[in-house]
Amino acid sequence: MGVGRGYGKLLLFGEHAAVYGHPAVGLRLDDYLEVELETPAARSSEGVQWQWPEFSENELAIVRRAVEALPHPPGGGRLDVRGTLPTSVGFGSSAAFCTALIRAHLGADALPPEELWALAHELEHHFHGTPSGIDTGLSVYPGASAIHPKPPGLPRREQITLPAMTLLVGAIQRTSSTAELVAGIRRARETDATRVEQTLARLGELARAVSRPGTDAPSVGEAADEAQHHLAALGLSTPALDALLETLHAHGALGAKLSGAGGGGAFFGVFENTGRAEAAEAALRRRAEELSVPVIYQRTLTL
Ligand code: PMV
Repeated sequence: MGVGRGYGKLLLFGEHAAVYGHPAVGLRLDDYLEVELETPAARSSEGVQWQWPEFSENELAIVRRAVEALPHPPGGGRLDVRGTLPTSVGFGSSAAFCTALIRAHLGADALPPEELWALAHELEHHFHGTPSGIDTGLSVYPGASAIHPKPPGLPRREQITLPAMTLLVGAIQRTSSTAELVAGIRRARETDATRVEQTLARLGELARAVSRPGTDAPSVGEAADEAQHHLAALGLSTPALDALLETLHAHGALGAKLSGAGGGGAFFGVFENTGRAEAAEAALRRRAEELSVPVIYQRTLTL
């Protein structure tokens, strides 16, 4: 039996822009998914039935294809998933699943990071057609990274040091999936090429700017606000998300934005220190209750 762990990610800058080759910046979360895989020895696996967890039909079809794409795929057995990472809100759960699945199948340290990343990226294509590779990269490498996409190949990853600051990270339910949101930007890019391309380039430039040495927390906050403005102009925010980000501002955030594909989902506020972030936590929960929007994840991350 193999057990493998894959970590989630928090995308700080460059979402959507990364799909078109612009850089992104993010960090690995401590939250994870763990895959447990019990498969009979290769020679006796023929005719063994699969036992899957309670996945929807659609999820099961994707997971099956990902399992079949493993090297020397098992023909049957039992697969279980557990963990602390919320799924489908922008914390990279599909990338975390792919990383965990490979580690469960091959062993935790069987592959060097770059090979693990390459294989996880290949598997993630079964979840959504054109992953940029940033989620799997952020899942594999600890700490903060700048990711430079090289479509259709695997991006280049650069370890970076972000300034001392505290992030208040949260998530609400999404109103659309990553695939729908990415497709929406593709359509917008076809009908309004100049505006959308300029916006995506600027989002990439903000990612590049915060990854430069010497950036401080106020400039990360400022970049977050500008990025949020552009993401909202692309139709990726929601009224509930806007209201929660406004609450973070009203309670001391230096800046705040959505994280990941948008349409609700993950978001974060940038704070000078842990005390300030913690002071905003209760206000965020209260505002979410007033709006009847359940906060499905909330953590402070001190860098
Ligand atoms: O699925 P999410 O919310 O983690 O979004 C991934 C980020 C995108 O840039 C929107 C898509 C991608 O593959 O880079």
